[in-house]
Amino acid sequence: MARPAMPTFLCWTVALGATLALAQAPAPATFPDQQRPAGDPAVIAHGRQLYAVNCKACHGGDLRGGDLGGPNLLRSQVVMSDQHGEAISQVVLKGRPDPQGGGPPMPAFPLSTADVHAIAEYIHGVLRDKQRQGAPPPGERQALNVLVGNAGAGRRYFKAHCAGCHSPGGDLRGIATRAADAGALQDAWVAGRPPVAPGGNPYAIHTDPKTPPTTVTVTLGDGTRVHGRLQRVDDFIVSLYADSGGYLSFIRDGRPGVRAVDIDDPMAAHRHLLGALTDPDMHDVTAYLATLK
Ligand code: HEC
Ligand code: HEC
Repeated sequence: MARPAMPTFLCWTVALGATLALAQAPAPATFPDQQRPAGDPAVIAHGRQLYAVNCKACHGGDLRGGDLGGPNLLRSQVVMSDQHGEAISQVVLKGRPDPQGGGPPMPAFPLSTADVHAIAEYIHGVLRDKQRQGAPPPGERQALNVLVGNAGAGRRYFKAHCAGCHSPGGDLRGIATRAADAGALQDAWVAGRPPVAPGGNPYAIHTDPKTPPTTVTVTLGDGTRVHGRLQRVDDFIVSLYADSGGYLSFIRDGRPGVRAVDIDDPMAAHRHLLGALTDPDMHDVTAYLATLK
């Protein structure tokens, strides 16, 4: 989604136009989010799915805080001062290991810049559309029934997209009986982690030792290779917890320092799902997995 650079004179014209328009408009409301233009619906939809998988348990389905003690994001200063994910990403990438007041911590999420941006766009979209400060998004409150798909179609989707790594009679045997409800089952398979068990503690999802971490091999100019658990990566920096111990960051600025960065993400298939899944596919697969009892 790269935009062509705007010639400087055009920027000035736009800025001048905006200033003039502001001068003539009635006094603007004070909540910046309510003056935002609507975001890209595709990015928001992607962000909504990422939010559901990574954030919802703690921050709530309507962003007003969840069962696991995450605060209301509709009233968060971090969210309100954020433009396009830059402030939210600080919290998401680092987590809040030592929250003030000794509350529960928030884990760090090694999400890509694009994914954090999508989550931010989703959150801002909810803020933009909400009726008044702190109220839930408009529309009727709905009980969530995720068992609306076609199990047969879900089985076909599974064969085509999942059977290379999973089997209904093997690792996913009885998966439906291991999930608290259909929602927990759906969250689990989309994210690729064990479902929250009936009566179980949803905290476990973040500390599950089974979820294999993303690793990275950084090859330096002299051929030395450093391997470890990826902490974060973007176009400029790659940071990792090295197998040999210690936390290392390398600058990727095109100078000979870093020759190659090879990332091995065992969960890549699941991350990719988030962007590729349609709602009907998602419901069909959940309906199919719900039959694995
Ligand atoms: C395990 C629960 C948990 C999960 C999962 C979680 N959070 Fe949090 N989050 C928290 C807690 C607890 C705090 C408050 C910590 C503190 O007091 O500093 C917080 C704080 C925040 C804040 C700062 C709020 C403020 O105003 O200080 C933002 C923004 C945020 N979370 C966004 C997210 C996003 C986006 C995700 C998903 C990628 C996410 N969180 C996932 C528990 C969680
Ligand atoms: C390229 C391999 C790959 C593909 C394709 C894949 N997954 Fe996964 N999945 C994994 C890995 C790796 C894990 C985490 C380790 C584990 O639990 O096996 C995982 C975990 C899971 C879990 C949690 C299992 C548990 O009990 O902990 C479920 C459920 C799941 N995947 C469902 C699916 C479904 C449904 C699809 C297709 C839409 C799919 N996966 C596609 C690799 C894959």
